[in-house]
Amino acid sequence: MKKKKKIGFIGTGHMGEALIAGLLKAKFVTPDQILASDSDRERLLFIQKKYGITKVSDNNRLSFQCDPLLLCVKPQSMKEVIEEMADSLDASRLLISIAAGVPLYAIDSYARKQLRLIRVMPNINVLVQEGATAIAPGNLATDKDIKLAKAIFDCVGRSITIHEFLMDAVTGLSGSGPAYVFLIIEALTEAGVHLGMTRLQALTLVTQTVMGSVKLLSSSGEHPALLREKVTSPGGTTAAGLYKLEQGGLRKILIDAVIAATQKSKELGDKMKQ
Ligand SMILES: NC(=O)c1ccc[n+]([C@@H]2O[C@H](COP(=O)([O-])OP(=O)(O)OC[C@H]3O[C@@H](n4cnc5c(N)ncnc54)[C@H](OP(=O)(O)O)[C@@H]3O)[C@@H](O)[C@H]2O)c1
Repeated sequence: MKKKKKIGFIGTGHMGEALIAGLLKAKFVTPDQILASDSDRERLLFIQKKYGITKVSDNNRLSFQCDPLLLCVKPQSMKEVIEEMADSLDASRLLISIAAGVPLYAIDSYARKQLRLIRVMPNINVLVQEGATAIAPGNLATDKDIKLAKAIFDCVGRSITIHEFLMDAVTGLSGSGPAYVFLIIEALTEAGVHLGMTRLQALTLVTQTVMGSVKLLSSSGEHPALLREKVTSPGGTTAAGLYKLEQGGLRKILIDAVIAATQKSKELGDKMKQ
């Protein structure tokens, strides 16, 4: 990002900190280019000391000085934060919201004007710079804004651009996705324990297997079905294991899980509208 530009964070909790850490690690900005505010004063002081950024005690002052402005507060705090800053907000600066389930139109309605907005849905893996993020631009967001949002979230993993109507599906797939993967790892570990390994031995083998498989998949560029075929010898052990997984409906149950989480995200969004 250009040297004279400042990026502002409203909220320096788990996600705010992960983003600040990722941007600095990737050298996307220098600490003097980051300004942040948080209603939790101790937390803000901690983040200032840890990363050498500038703390600002007032959201309005922060918003005047920064472009883009990242809104990293809880969804239930969004209305209050935007209403409080409404006077200092206009379409001259880009606002990026990571609040789950808060639609773009809601942010405009809290400000009582149309803003230059981008709604983003990252997942918890941004904590280790391996997040999966979906970016949905609002009507006034320019191509340059979308590029900037993508560059920011690519510092903490990988991002894609989508239409906002898919945000519930993103929540059900990659938002909740880490929990599905943890459950699968937990179950495979239990299988190792069942067969006589210590929990640590089994967990080591399982996590390394998952990590290695993901690395092989992304470095080969091949479709997962092709890689699966490559490791499945006719009449062999893997074929026997896969048969059991198909018989138990693993494929269908995973699809159903994502549909259920997507539906829940829709329901929570509808409740918020009321
Ligand atoms: N965690 C995830 O995996 C995940 C994934 C996708 C999206 N998100 C979204 O990311 C956002 C942040 O989540 P988080 O887990 O980082 O939350 P968090 O740890 O609670 O951080 C939010 C911070 O914002 C502060 N805050 C509240 N009101 C404020 C105000 N008016 N002005 C300035 N700061 C204010 C909070 O302070 P107080 O403690 O004093 O309230 C808190 O320190 C949420 O909207 C969430 O939906 C999270």
